[in-house]
Amino acid sequence: MHKIIEQQIEKRTNRDIKVAYKTLIPTGGYKSPDAHLFEDILLSVVLQKAVLLKGPSGSGKTKLAESIASLFQQPVHSINCSVDLDAESLLGFKTVVQKEGQTLIDFVEGPVVKAMKEGHFLYIDEINMAKAETLPILHSVLDYRRMLTNPFTGEVIQAHPNFGVIAAINEGYIGTTPMNEALKNRFISFSIPYITGEQLQELVEEYFPQLDAKLQQQMLSLAEDLKQQAVNGLLSEEAASIRSLLDAIELAQYMSPLRAIQYAIAEKLEDQSERELVIELAKTWMG
Ligand SMILES: Nc1ncnc2c1ncn2[C@@H]1O[C@H](COP(=O)(O)OP(=O)(O)O)[C@@H](O)[C@H]1O
Ligand SMILES: [Mg+2]
Repeated sequence: MHKIIEQQIEKRTNRDIKVAYKTLIPTGGYKSPDAHLFEDILLSVVLQKAVLLKGPSGSGKTKLAESIASLFQQPVHSINCSVDLDAESLLGFKTVVQKEGQTLIDFVEGPVVKAMKEGHFLYIDEINMAKAETLPILHSVLDYRRMLTNPFTGEVIQAHPNFGVIAAINEGYIGTTPMNEALKNRFISFSIPYITGEQLQELVEEYFPQLDAKLQQQMLSLAEDLKQQAVNGLLSEEAASIRSLLDAIELAQYMSPLRAIQYAIAEKLEDQSERELVIELAKTWMG
């Protein structure tokens, strides 16, 4: 690992985190598909760049963000984008409080403000699901300025040096709009693929240490087939989702593997022909 990453790990992990935030420190476990991807993302984070993870559902984007935070032992504040996302859900809102018989206006800080002040991570999931007019409020937070003028309080906030932004998108997914150029421009972008081969086998072994060796081999063979057919264009990319595969394996320990594959993988696909292809491929391995 590059020296500047090691220095930052040393520095950041030796920091006191408020008790209330300790539950927001996640656990790691992300497996990098190649030798450099995870480290390159870490370098970008250490260099105080906002990072964008682009990849299909179940490719480990959330796990990756959690693993970065775990390495630095930093809490993560998450935002799930939708058309309803507004400035209040990002920055916070004003509220009325009673203090010693007096009525006061208080400001309840939202995830962006907390993460900036405390030096935590901000994870923005499905960033392309937000309305185009909501996110420009973050432009000054995301670029070299790393600051924000809170429109609700007038407070000028300069981000703590450990503050970092990690965003995730599932490009081309139904319901998403292409990401606004000015927003996209502020991120260093990484494509996050589904892991395969040895990495996938290691992951399965970690998740299911007691798994029957034959079932494991069958499931991994099926996973390779699904990936191949997605490359060939016969299946949609999500057919090879690692999340779905792990679900199928979990169910398969309690029911017929074919039914497990049907529920966890095939049924999620839109086309009848795709669902049939998955089952056909599964039958070649499960008999
Ligand atoms: N490369 C990977 N390393 C570790 N776990 C992974 C990886 N890819 C997928 N997973 C596992 O698959 C599941 C879905 O991952 P998640 O991070 O939620 O995907 P995404 O956010 O991309 O939809 C989790 O259980 C996660 O641990
Ligand atoms: Mg996710």
